[in-house]
Amino acid sequence: MLDSIKEVLITQEALQERVAELGKQISADYKGEEVVLVCVLKGAVMFFADLARSIEGDVTLDFISCSSYGNSTQSSGVVRIMKDLDKPVEGKHVIVVEDIVDTGNTLHYLLENLKSRNAKSVRLVALLNKPDRRTVEVHVDYQGFVVPDYFVVGYGLDYAEQYRNLPYIGILKEEVYQSK
Ligand code: PRP
Ligand code: MN
Ligand code: MG
Repeated sequence: MLDSIKEVLITQEALQERVAELGKQISADYKGEEVVLVCVLKGAVMFFADLARSIEGDVTLDFISCSSYGNSTQSSGVVRIMKDLDKPVEGKHVIVVEDIVDTGNTLHYLLENLKSRNAKSVRLVALLNKPDRRTVEVHVDYQGFVVPDYFVVGYGLDYAEQYRNLPYIGILKEEVYQSK
């Protein structure tokens, strides 16, 4: 295991199994419907790629880049869209795919923003939900795992852009971010 990781919280196998379950559930819920899967870059990228392949049906993919953290472990609370969707979502069923809902700032902003584009429906699937840190209410339609209030990285989640490539979700050692 990587030196900066204190403990593996969710193994590669557990991630695979849960993502497959979410894919099945979403496939059943949207049977016969067209769905636009929206990846919130960059954190959601691994989850998005795996989830998309576990959904059966009529799916298109689009990407939005939205950031509130910068190089910090604290959310700034100010959400910026750095790259917008390529296509309008008016009249479409949209599923926003996120890696984690933490304070709720990013998703609160993004879901309102997408609803205002007159999508037919907008739902959220989040791999991780960390309710202890919520400051803004967000309805999570599909969630992978509820996680305790540790700084988690891997499978897309970063600290200062590092650790996204880890195949598991791990808890970052405090000394890694306290020394910065
Ligand atoms: C992280 C994470 C979520 C958001 C959740 O993204 O991927 O998008 O923060 O935090 P919140 O609920 O407190 O808003 P980040 O801004 O770090 O960008 P990234 O996805 O590129 O890492
Ligand atoms: Mn993100
Ligand atoms: Mg980040």
